[in-house]
Amino acid sequence: MQKLRMGVLVSGRGSNLQAIIDAIESDCLAATIAVVISDQPGAYALERAQKHGISTAVVERSGYETREAFEAAILETLKVHNVELVALAGFMRILSRGFVANYPQRILNIHPALLPAFTGLHAQAQALAYGVKVSGCTVHFVDEGMDTGPIVLQEAVPVLDHDTEETLSDRIVAAEHRIYPAALQLLASGRIMIEGRRVKILADCSKGGNEKS
Ligand code: GRF
Repeated sequence: MQKLRMGVLVSGRGSNLQAIIDAIESDCLAATIAVVISDQPGAYALERAQKHGISTAVVERSGYETREAFEAAILETLKVHNVELVALAGFMRILSRGFVANYPQRILNIHPALLPAFTGLHAQAQALAYGVKVSGCTVHFVDEGMDTGPIVLQEAVPVLDHDTEETLSDRIVAAEHRIYPAALQLLASGRIMIEGRRVKILADCSKGGNEKS
């Protein structure tokens, strides 16, 4: 079967990109990364991709007069690489409605909080400031809002009394590395059904779980 061709958009260190690469290389994710695109030329994520022989591209916002032209350049790069699914992995820009319309229900994002709590930047600091006892991470579809699309998977982690933004972020990112590849595999294997805001996960028929007791 033809493997799902993914494009991964990054801006920074790329630890989620690495988790996705590792899942592919260990046969836990039946997909291929066709291209990694960064809006930051110095992003470490680019080096991670290159180490694994993955094509990379840099599309800088400053290289374009308008947001539309910038997004058109990203879209063109995705199209050149025949990308079917876009994974945002620490990509620090909000995509326009026009961009999202090119990949309806085919763009995923990972957010470091249990949505709908703590949207936007510094979600871990927001969680600490609010005083929640549990936070976590969310994989969701991207729509035209900020962190508002239908939720695919979430994982909770405790917030401990001695936590700093850094220690909480470390605990959350470890969970991100588990659920992002898992969510992508659900999508790649056709096990996701979206009904309004609810994402239903279909049974894994390949495991033959229908035996009668
Ligand atoms: C992660 O915390 C992710 O939830 C957020 O940006 C961060 C990216 O980290 N969207 P990395 O670049 O994948 O290490």
